[in-house]
Amino acid sequence: MAREKWGSQIGFWLAAIGSAVGLGSIWRFPYAMGDGGGLFLLIYLGAVILFGFPVFMAELAIGKKTRQGPVGAYREIAGAGNYGKRMGIFQIITSLVIMTFYSLIGGYCIIYVFKSWELTNAITDLNAAQNIFNDISGSFWLSFLGTFIFLIISCVTVVVGVKGIEKLNKYLMPVLFLILFILSINSLTLPGAGKGMQFLFSFSASNFSMHYVLTALGQACFSLSIGIGVLVLFGSYCDDLGIVKSSLIIISADTIVSLMSAIIIFPVFFSFTNAGPSSGGLELAFKALPLVFAKMPCGVFVAVLFFSLLVIAALASAISLIELPVAYLMDSRGWKRRKASFCIFSIILIGSIPSICSAGFLKFIDYAASNWMMLACVLLLSIFLRRYWKKIGIGQMIKEETGSPILAGTVSFLVKFFIPIVIFLLILSNIF
Ligand code: PHE
Repeated sequence: MAREKWGSQIGFWLAAIGSAVGLGSIWRFPYAMGDGGGLFLLIYLGAVILFGFPVFMAELAIGKKTRQGPVGAYREIAGAGNYGKRMGIFQIITSLVIMTFYSLIGGYCIIYVFKSWELTNAITDLNAAQNIFNDISGSFWLSFLGTFIFLIISCVTVVVGVKGIEKLNKYLMPVLFLILFILSINSLTLPGAGKGMQFLFSFSASNFSMHYVLTALGQACFSLSIGIGVLVLFGSYCDDLGIVKSSLIIISADTIVSLMSAIIIFPVFFSFTNAGPSSGGLELAFKALPLVFAKMPCGVFVAVLFFSLLVIAALASAISLIELPVAYLMDSRGWKRRKASFCIFSIILIGSIPSICSAGFLKFIDYAASNWMMLACVLLLSIFLRRYWKKIGIGQMIKEETGSPILAGTVSFLVKFFIPIVIFLLILSNIF
């Protein structure tokens, strides 16, 4: 069967940015930061450079080399050995687990689009914002409906195929960037801007804790979509791809969006409370953003536009997460795209019910999947890459593209030694 191809390199980048940029940058980043502020940010940037960048490139390289989705690619590289197969299955399970809560948060965003009027008019402080969020999350049927709609749109787009994603993102991403930029400038004029910026950009090393390392690493993996094979799939669709250049562009875009999101949210949070940002909880963005809109001219209009764009950005990420198990069922079982998508849709919808029913469970599953499961995926992948580095020819690809053996050597060292050692130390520090 001929493989579908990306229309152009720009189309590929925009689609990959679309997959990376989503709820992870806008909803999860400020919440994962907790009370960590500048210290978290510093560790996060370190994680992006030392973890994100090398793994991102390596995953694209696997796709580029094999022209296959993750499961087929690992099989081709590792032969009939079981390691690649098991790793692929673990990645698929991780993507399914992530989707169970990702769809719920996406569903909340859909509901927020329709509540924009109420949000911008009735909200005067964080308590009022919290009450509206509680009303939505406390209603099983409303949350279920949001999740259902979010999932059904994602799955239908997956059935339509790769071209659908590309078209959507080409137009969407630049608009989302623009609106985030405007909102950042707006937030910088708020009374809490000074406190917000101080929180974000200053730190004291004495506050260091391994907890920040874990959450920053998990957030970097989640936000950049690394370790679970999404990028292998993306690389496999691209004919003539510079892995270094593509990684740089996509990672920078994602990091800028995360930063803008923090710049938008923290000033408004500090304008309304003296409590630490971790008190904002998992719903921090859902409480702070409506206050941003309530305070600005044409707030309702901006709110509708922003939440709609956020829904579409989240959909693009969800599509890449769903594409993994769907492609697996198609490749390994020979199922039709439609049948595979329906099966995955049902599994995710049922899997999302515990998170819909319990905020505690939602928090737990987000923590477990985004931090531990994703890091486990990266660890498994780094072991795999260590074994097949030469065979995939990653060093060669980097040298050919940049002419720099030093970069190739550094990336190889980071993937083969630095990353597994850091993850291993993290595991140890959590056990003892
Ligand atoms: N990176 C996406 C986001 O930030 C989530 C995601 C994780 C997508 C893993 C694909 C794979 O929303």
